Amino acid sequence: MSEARLEAQAQHQTGATSEAAARHDHGPLVNARNVGKTYWIGKRSLEVLRNVDLQVLRGEFLVVRGASGAGKSTLLHCLGGLDTPTTGEIWFDGKNLAALSGLELSRFRNRKIGFVFQAYHLLPELDALENVCLPARMARTDAGRPRRGGASCSNASV
Ligand SMILES: Nc1ncnc2c1ncn2[C@@H]1O[C@H](COP(=O)(O)OP(=O)(O)OP(=O)(O)O)[C@@H](O)[C@H]1O
Ligand SMILES: [Mg+2]
Repeated sequence: MSEARLEAQAQHQTGATSEAAARHDHGPLVNARNVGKTYWIGKRSLEVLRNVDLQVLRGEFLVVRGASGAGKSTLLHCLGGLDTPTTGEIWFDGKNLAALSGLELSRFRNRKIGFVFQAYHLLPELDALENVCLPARMARTDAGRPRRGGASCSNASV
């Protein structure tokens, strides 16, 4: 039998809301509807998210709060297309994430979402600038070859 554990709290930063509201007519950047996530460990289920409805407007700055284990990372992983919710839908920039193929989802994450992981997941053989540049290099954009005071991804030490 599963047990609900999450009551995530979101707090809108007041300074960002008026600008965000002004852009609201373009639709929310993130629209999560009735999102649920249950993990299964053998025959035991752990319901971490239940009926999460969340809209994030363009330009909005949002804080998700909750006790350790409440499901913040689980929610962010689902919103960021790194994990799939058990129930509900997540629309991001007008796209239903569940409708994207693996390749489309990878491209979408690479181009639209920036992650700073709780456990960092930095590549130790790369320096700080190279780690930061990695998504842009994978996307083969000019941003993958930034120059800062003569430094570039290929020769910088930060
Ligand atoms: N892949 C997984 N399989 C099974 N259980 C998981 C998995 N990932 C997370 N959990 C469990 O789900 C619950 C929520 O975890 P989550 O990491 O989302 O919490 P959190 O709010 O980010 O916590 P913290 O503040 O410590 O980072 C925890 O009980 C955790 O043990
Ligand atoms: Mg976490």
